[in-house]
Amino acid sequence: MKYFIQVFGCQSNKSDSERISGDYESRGWEEASDWRDADQIIVDTCAVRQSAEDRVTGFLLNVVSYFENIHTPRPKIILTGCMTHHGEGKIRELLPMVDEVLPITEVGFNAIAIRKDKLHAWIPISQGCNSFCTYCIVPYSRGREVSRSKESIMEEVNRLAKEGYTELTLLGQNVNSWGLEKVGIGLRKLLMDQSHKLKFEDIPTNQSQYYEGGGEPPFVGLLRDITAVDGIEKVRFMTSNPWDFHSSLVNEIAHNNKIDKFIHLPIQSGSNAVLKRMNRGYTKEDYLEVVNKLRAAIPKVELGTDIIVGFGGETEEEFQETVLLAKQIGWKVGFVARYSPRPGTAAWRLFPDDIPALEKKRRWQILEDIINQPNLGSKRPKVIK
Ligand code: SAH
Ligand code: SF4
Ligand code: F3S
Repeated sequence: MKYFIQVFGCQSNKSDSERISGDYESRGWEEASDWRDADQIIVDTCAVRQSAEDRVTGFLLNVVSYFENIHTPRPKIILTGCMTHHGEGKIRELLPMVDEVLPITEVGFNAIAIRKDKLHAWIPISQGCNSFCTYCIVPYSRGREVSRSKESIMEEVNRLAKEGYTELTLLGQNVNSWGLEKVGIGLRKLLMDQSHKLKFEDIPTNQSQYYEGGGEPPFVGLLRDITAVDGIEKVRFMTSNPWDFHSSLVNEIAHNNKIDKFIHLPIQSGSNAVLKRMNRGYTKEDYLEVVNKLRAAIPKVELGTDIIVGFGGETEEEFQETVLLAKQIGWKVGFVARYSPRPGTAAWRLFPDDIPALEKKRRWQILEDIINQPNLGSKRPKVIK
């Protein structure tokens, strides 16, 4: 019997799909090189923007029409990943070709991952997210943040090192908070759970304040232990959020030559008012402080970011603050996304999606040119409204 996994979305899904492969192969299945030859097709979905869900739908329609055209019964279709949060009923209504829904929480850390790359491995260190940025579906699609145990992570790292892997990327929606639920710091989650409404003013701007003078976050120790494993030469991690980028982490990156000096540090917006509406828990000034600390301690550091343009109510002035920051900071790469309202999120309820698609595109292009095409600059023709 043959399986095929069609993966959409981010590295979390790519990493999950390696463990789904492991689960199939432990039961004697083989991977098909093409979905047309499979007995089962697993679709690992993304729900971060409407366009991501549309790509999943497009793929499924393509599969159905292919088998209809050749008058052959189609393989069983199993849907997993971030679209499963819609619930089985809604999925069957939206995508009637789906035969089975595999809840993302059942993918877990248990199966041994089957990796195609033999030198670099993705290692999940946590699942889910407690941050509840108002635009984001991930806390709903992937549930509460759960840290993987240190024993389980180290067991995998040691095994990979013995197999000859030299480069690792640690994965989590917020790697900085790895292990924090064990010491009881989950303030943002508590606020959301108890009041069932958003209390922006109560949310701390920087979780690392809990550590000042009192040691280091558990993630820093984890990094040190992983880089100490014989054979491991380079370690990266993502995503690191600006609100708890502790100075001991900056220090560890600076002095540990096995930690890569490229840091992905999503800002989302350069406007404090927008950051507040997004519930990001930091200000532009907090972000700049982290950048300054990194640059002072690590001369070779390079930074990447994620930005959302056209968030509900984003004025031209607010957008220009992001433009200004992009020019000031000089990120090496930036993933610029156009805001897509996600039903069920706080932003979907609170802030109407009032920036027209063409205007989002114009703002996207401006940042894209500044960050990712710095040599093109103003030579690119403007998008006409
Ligand atoms: N945990 C990571 C990001 C996960 S989602 C972090 O906090 O940085 C990846 C990126 O998708 C986000 O950084 C954001 O820029 C973008 N994104 C998330 N929800 C979005 C939405 N509703 N519309 C547009 N972009 C979105
Ligand atoms: Fe989404 Fe925010 Fe969690 Fe990232 S930190 S996954 S943007 S809620
Ligand atoms: Fe990743 Fe998309 Fe889920 S970005 S966490 S696969 S919603």
